[in-house]
Amino acid sequence: MTRYARRVTGLAPSGVRKWFEGAGPGSINLTLGQPDFDTPDHVKEAACRALAEGKTGYTPNVGIPELLDAIVEKSRRENGLEYAPDQVMVTAGASEALLLAMQVLVDEGDRVLHADPAFVSYAALASLAGGRPEGLPTGDGFRIEVEAAKERLDGAKVLVINSPSNPTGAVEPESSVRALVEYANDAGVTVISDEVYEHFVYDGVRAVSAGRFGDDVVTINATSKTYAMTGWRLGWFAGSAELVEQANKIHQYGQACASSIAQYAAAAALRGPQDCVGAMQEEYAARRELVCGGLEDLGIVFPRPEGAFYVFPPMDDDLVRRVIAAGVIVVPGASFGPAGTGHARIVYAASREALSAALERIAGVVRG
Ligand SMILES: Cc1ncc(COP(=O)(O)O)c(C=O)c1O
Repeated sequence: MTRYARRVTGLAPSGVRKWFEGAGPGSINLTLGQPDFDTPDHVKEAACRALAEGKTGYTPNVGIPELLDAIVEKSRRENGLEYAPDQVMVTAGASEALLLAMQVLVDEGDRVLHADPAFVSYAALASLAGGRPEGLPTGDGFRIEVEAAKERLDGAKVLVINSPSNPTGAVEPESSVRALVEYANDAGVTVISDEVYEHFVYDGVRAVSAGRFGDDVVTINATSKTYAMTGWRLGWFAGSAELVEQANKIHQYGQACASSIAQYAAAAALRGPQDCVGAMQEEYAARRELVCGGLEDLGIVFPRPEGAFYVFPPMDDDLVRRVIAAGVIVVPGASFGPAGTGHARIVYAASREALSAALERIAGVVRG
């Protein structure tokens, strides 16, 4: 009989995938955090060109120079962050960047802090690295309670900030990001800033990069959400040159490099016209109105999330069960941490028709 490693057998499977895979025929699946748009044409064309030109071999472990330069330029232009190319590493999606960051930073027993509720990967990857994940209290609109976080930061190893947030759509105000990063770095705590939803913000709100406020910050991003490229598996992290050097020791053995074709496509995405991003943002904004307005009409009232493409309304277990039974598949909030109990995550990266149909079914359940 195969004897599996305890650090893996002890890991719970993703709560999100379970619901996604359980969606039956005729159901409206609002569980998966993936854009329903297609990748923009100019990005696909860059990938086709790379193929036609035979750029199909291994690339440098850390990524092709064109893409590293494009990430450096993007970070300066959009985030106000100054990186040299040797401070950036290209990965197979933000997921691999998160895995590498945790592996490089976390020793056995180290405390890794993240919001509660949070994206499921943070606690899982921290545990896999031998660390002890710890949820931080969130308050109004599920934003991190800064003063409570400060009390927990002493003696911790890593603080994860994810703004805009999956699953809640919360956007941390600049004052909170600054206070958290400054306090964390002073206390010797490295900040991992997961910025994959940075462009999807609403009502004039802006998401700020944590790296602006401290030196010990690992910035994680990807083309996945911004350019509707989840299947291309292309992300990156940026931090110190030493971080890249350490992480590359794992990446070169475990991954070798991100897909060559996806790397050329990503360079075109970052350097090409950005109106495709604006168009997606506008469509998400309209869908957010549709979903929030529809839920409010049913008496499900909650602070409108300012970012990402999720709403996290209050819904007790019984209501969630009945909504799912009516064929609208959502994820119970407790899948994202204890503070998510009594809520559900609804993804609005789906067509307006699908969202309207889902709201009708929810209305049928609520109104009996
Ligand atoms: C907050 C957050 N970070 C990272 C990821 C992973 O992104 P990628 O598809 O680039 O690996 C996701 C995907 O859902 C996410 O929601």
